[in-house]
Amino acid sequence: MMKKDQHMKYALECEYLDSLNSVKLRYVSLPSINIQDVDISTKFCGMDFKYPFFVNAMTGGSKKADEINKRLENICTTLHIFLFTGSFSPALKEDTFYYPKNMGVNIGADKKLDDMQIAIEKTNAKILQIHLNPIQEFMMENGTTNFSDWSNNIKAAIDNISIPLIIKETGFGMSSYTIEKLLKLGVKTIDISSKGGTDFSYIEDRRRNTKREYLYEFGYTLKESLLTSIPYMDRLEVIASGGINNPMQIVKCLAMGAKAVGVTGFILKQLEEKSDHEIIRMLRSWISEIQAIICMTDSKKLEELKGKWEDKKC
Ligand code: FNR
Repeated sequence: MMKKDQHMKYALECEYLDSLNSVKLRYVSLPSINIQDVDISTKFCGMDFKYPFFVNAMTGGSKKADEINKRLENICTTLHIFLFTGSFSPALKEDTFYYPKNMGVNIGADKKLDDMQIAIEKTNAKILQIHLNPIQEFMMENGTTNFSDWSNNIKAAIDNISIPLIIKETGFGMSSYTIEKLLKLGVKTIDISSKGGTDFSYIEDRRRNTKREYLYEFGYTLKESLLTSIPYMDRLEVIASGGINNPMQIVKCLAMGAKAVGVTGFILKQLEEKSDHEIIRMLRSWISEIQAIICMTDSKKLEELKGKWEDKKC
């Protein structure tokens, strides 16, 4: 089975843990807003988005991945939801794979500027995500073990690429040390993609049957990464992802200051179980529920929602 297909197979086995369950939104018994008037549009990377959530980087580089990318493109274009395709890396070696155009494209921080530019040109991408995945590289067979060029590659992208960039984790979250390093490089937008859903230490461990469960603890939950990133939100845009599987979690991330929220493994699970039509219906319902939840914090738009949360441990 190809690497990308194994990723999907084991991603479906990952268990979800809601680190945001102690975060409570301010609930208002007497809202003074019509739910339909709640504006849930957002802006990041200098672009306007109709909805504050998107489908995050997942796949590309196998026959099954092609089918999934076609389905994701259909679902996302029907709903006007933004989509980031999975890493373009397999397509650099073999030009036959299907990657949706005019959306977001994704590539690893180990790649040089030329490869990043090819990924953008071939997909006519609006945004480039550069992913950071040192744990996964270390745990997989023949992964990169030399990370010494990653910062230079990111810097070259910042200096030379004209479309907006997002520096993205892959499910292990970000520490303040990481965020400060990225800030020094001049990064403007980060996706703190954290623990809580898809776990690549589990996936790579399962692929090789190496039984190194002790490595699974590395990284931060979504709540930990969000709390870490709050003090930096005046200097860079923060996108939240990792373990998102319902609209309440999306609104909590937005209240905590995230500009938008990415959903990945949960969508993969839906693709396994449901038709495109059923997924579109479910996501339409998410859109109305996001409006309703925000209305019940007595907010008309995302800027008003910001800060209306507290951390209740009991
Ligand atoms: C991913 N993810 C990912 N990320 C990335 O930057 N480039 C990639 O190519 C991939 N590939 C990939 C394949 C599959 C099958 C999954 C499920 C995920 C990681 C993804 O974008 C996200 O950061 C994590 O999955 C955490 O979010 P969820 O899945 O917990 O919502």
